[in-house]
Amino acid sequence: MEYRALALDVTSHAVDCLVAVVPSGPMPAPLAALDRATEGLVEAARAAGELARFLGWSHNLRPPGIAAKRLFLVSTGDKEALTRDQWRKLAAAIAERVTGRGIESAAVILEGVAVEDSDRTDCAARLAEAVVTGSYRFAECKSKASEDEDNRPSLARLDLVCAPEEVASLQAALDRGQAIGEGINFTRRLGDLPPNICTPAYLAGAAQSLAESSPRLTARVLEEPEMRELGMGALLAVTAGTATPPRLIVLEYRGAAESDPPIALVGKGVTFDSGGICLKPSANLDEMKYDMCGAAGVLGTLLAADRLRLPLNLVGIVPAVENMPSGNATRPGDIVTAMDGTTIEILNTDAEGRLILCDALTYAGRYRPSAVIDVATLTGACVVALGHHRSGLFSNDEALAVELFEAGERSGDKVWRLPLGEEYDEQLKSPFADLANVGGKGAGSVTAACFLGRFAKDYRWAHLDIAGTAWKSGEKKGATGRPVGLLAEFLLNRSR
Ligand code: BES
Ligand code: MN
Ligand code: ZN
Repeated sequence: MEYRALALDVTSHAVDCLVAVVPSGPMPAPLAALDRATEGLVEAARAAGELARFLGWSHNLRPPGIAAKRLFLVSTGDKEALTRDQWRKLAAAIAERVTGRGIESAAVILEGVAVEDSDRTDCAARLAEAVVTGSYRFAECKSKASEDEDNRPSLARLDLVCAPEEVASLQAALDRGQAIGEGINFTRRLGDLPPNICTPAYLAGAAQSLAESSPRLTARVLEEPEMRELGMGALLAVTAGTATPPRLIVLEYRGAAESDPPIALVGKGVTFDSGGICLKPSANLDEMKYDMCGAAGVLGTLLAADRLRLPLNLVGIVPAVENMPSGNATRPGDIVTAMDGTTIEILNTDAEGRLILCDALTYAGRYRPSAVIDVATLTGACVVALGHHRSGLFSNDEALAVELFEAGERSGDKVWRLPLGEEYDEQLKSPFADLANVGGKGAGSVTAACFLGRFAKDYRWAHLDIAGTAWKSGEKKGATGRPVGLLAEFLLNRSR
């Protein structure tokens, strides 16, 4: 796919599909030219009233007088400026149009469109991101092409019409949106892959291929004997019941001087969560393949960071395991010793995410990171609290929490902060060990975060619970690629 910002004459530009966003105010120059060439078609559509009233209402026209094969008029409704959420919706609607099969080339006119707290580069970046993510299909496990995924060509070229003086800045914005969209799609694919294919070794392979694709990325993969040497007893307790070997993946991105402390991103990589001996019920159990979306999100964010050439250092740390029951599986009541020496009484083998993450958080400390953000499909309780709209945010650092919250609002990949605190932390007391792995009734996502917080005392830390946001259930089920948009926005802001 090629994304280009071009100063051109819209009437003579030959593409399969021309999309013109029609703002409510005075007609901008390219639209006026389009109107003249089509003998008043744009004005007529506006005058008919439909365009003004509904956001995203679209005409599909095949007018003579212009070189484009089809013309879509998309309205911004009657408001002067769109909210960022409205622009994202409109961008998604445009993306849906132009990524329909049979359209190979498209051009978009955005002249005169106003979006709150956003300039034209923000809008262009969002549009490119929407088109990249709108192009995503997961068909690699189907043996033959289906009717809607037929052999007709897909979009190869998207042109953004602009003024000559805007070409450079809008091209950079399109590239930015494309990089983020690619990170999101990379993450979605890993989430959509079945758990018999997307194993810990597969995730490690994915990280290694990323590293091979860029001189700025380096991958290191630890296997079970090394984890044992490091004393990662909590992580090893989760993998005890499965025949599938675990991996600890470390993917480093170098965009700044070696002396610059990195930001560490830690991602939960449970490639299938059966619950272990505390076996989950079978309804929708297939969806527990997405329990590695934290891991996938970290790898996707590093991909985006690399494509964006961010001037900072990152380290992605992914503990990857499968949680299964068997004669070797960890039992409720078992007490294990984590890498930092903390003893943990495992009361519920289904609370496995925190067990692999606690050792990964200890490991992250070795990098003397400027901040650590862990990403995990950690608790069903977070889905109850926030649904599928916002990820849960927890942090021991006010400034970091604000940064992440703001990045969520800007990117649309939103979060909501939930508390940590001693009163919750006390729910994790065990009569037999330093710590229990579950906190009993009430505030399940908070006590899970408190558990992680015990291992994140030496640095600025935030935890994102993406159990509700990483995956869409129902008819169009699949991985969403969240929180790559959020993390990319956060890292871009840190790069300015
Ligand atoms: N992977 C699950 C959390 C989850 C639930 C993610 C639903 C996505 C959708 C996690 O490992 C888990 O099982 N958590 C338990 C914790 C409980 C045993 C304290 C939960 O949420 O029920
Ligand atoms: Mn579980
Ligand atoms: Zn889990």
